[in-house]
Amino acid sequence: MQARQVEAPLRKLMGPGPLNIHPRVYQALTSPVIGHLDPAYLKVLDQIGDLLRMVFRTKNRITNAAPGTGTAGMESCVANIIEPGDPVLVCVQGYFGDRIRQMAERQEAKLTVIEGEWGKPVDPETLEKELKKNSYKVIGLVHAETSTGVLQPMAEIAGLAKEHGAMILLDTVTSLGGVDVRIDDWGVDAAYSCSQKCIGCAAGLSPVSFSERAVESVRRRKHPVRSWYLDISLLDKYWGTERVYHHTSSSTLNYGLLEALRLIEEEGLEKRIQRHTLNHKALVAGVEAMGLEMLVSPEFRLPSLNTVKIPAGIDDVKVRSYLLDTYNLEIGGGLGVLKGKVWRVGLMGYSSSAENILFFIAAISQALALQGYKTDVAAGLSAVTKALDK
Ligand SMILES: Cc1ncc(COP(=O)(O)O)c(C=O)c1O
Repeated sequence: MQARQVEAPLRKLMGPGPLNIHPRVYQALTSPVIGHLDPAYLKVLDQIGDLLRMVFRTKNRITNAAPGTGTAGMESCVANIIEPGDPVLVCVQGYFGDRIRQMAERQEAKLTVIEGEWGKPVDPETLEKELKKNSYKVIGLVHAETSTGVLQPMAEIAGLAKEHGAMILLDTVTSLGGVDVRIDDWGVDAAYSCSQKCIGCAAGLSPVSFSERAVESVRRRKHPVRSWYLDISLLDKYWGTERVYHHTSSSTLNYGLLEALRLIEEEGLEKRIQRHTLNHKALVAGVEAMGLEMLVSPEFRLPSLNTVKIPAGIDDVKVRSYLLDTYNLEIGGGLGVLKGKVWRVGLMGYSSSAENILFFIAAISQALALQGYKTDVAAGLSAVTKALDK
């Protein structure tokens, strides 16, 4: 007989995203559907805008949740501030930096790419050399590279962009809501994120924020934005004071996003960032104590996404299938050049918890033992609890 309901197993989500969500967010997602121009709904959108300004640490008026996943936010930033012939510099240190490059190419930018080693951040010296050679309208880069587990230090890059008068386009998909993001302090002009990672909601919305300088550059464009759906001037007529129909905004998803943002506000952004950092340190302590290695050197590790090297001779897919089938545990495999070389362990939002770390250490140790690879699971678990006690 055909199942009457969707059959969705209850997984422990510890991959690159989506992650588990708080029961209050699930509840919000079942609130009554209302019209996209209903005054009650417009209030929800206003509250989302205010709370997004809080997590982005910005005063940018144009700060909202674009329809679509993180890729839509990326497309919105790229399509709005880049037009054909614009000199654009994209820093590629992983899979998602390359996606920005592909999008800039489609906008027919005059593109220069700085290609760096996966697992390392952008080298400021290389960037400075390039900025001295040529002048750029936009520098595109990723703050939290989910494919490698690298957190990009921003202070130096921000200083260089300012000195050379270039706008910064920043991917904060795996950092916003769990890692320190400072749009105004860093002088970022176009930033985007997603709803399903550290923010703690389901996938489908993409928080974006545009500086006044970015908005001005959109106003001065010679060509119309090559995406009608993501044109910020049109979207602003809906999110801003005019309240003109643009698209049928999903009240369901926005209720969820609002509740997720309220949870961030209640926890306190600073405390939430500390929780993500502490749990990341505990995971690393456990992983290293059990005898495994991290890919990224300590100073550049991304707290929300941890890349653990797969020991030689271990069948990656078998391990992940075992974890999923036996323990309902999802972790991520490597992307691009890191395929088969690393596991990506996400500790984001509601999934960033002591319980999840201990569970992962025990489960991965068992998965490895089945392939004849011995780890010191007791040392791993004890290192986790010790790190958490700090
Ligand atoms: C750094 C980064 N940028 C962009 C994206 C694309 O986001 P989405 O899959 O939500 O479209 C992802 C997805 O994981 C990501 O990790």
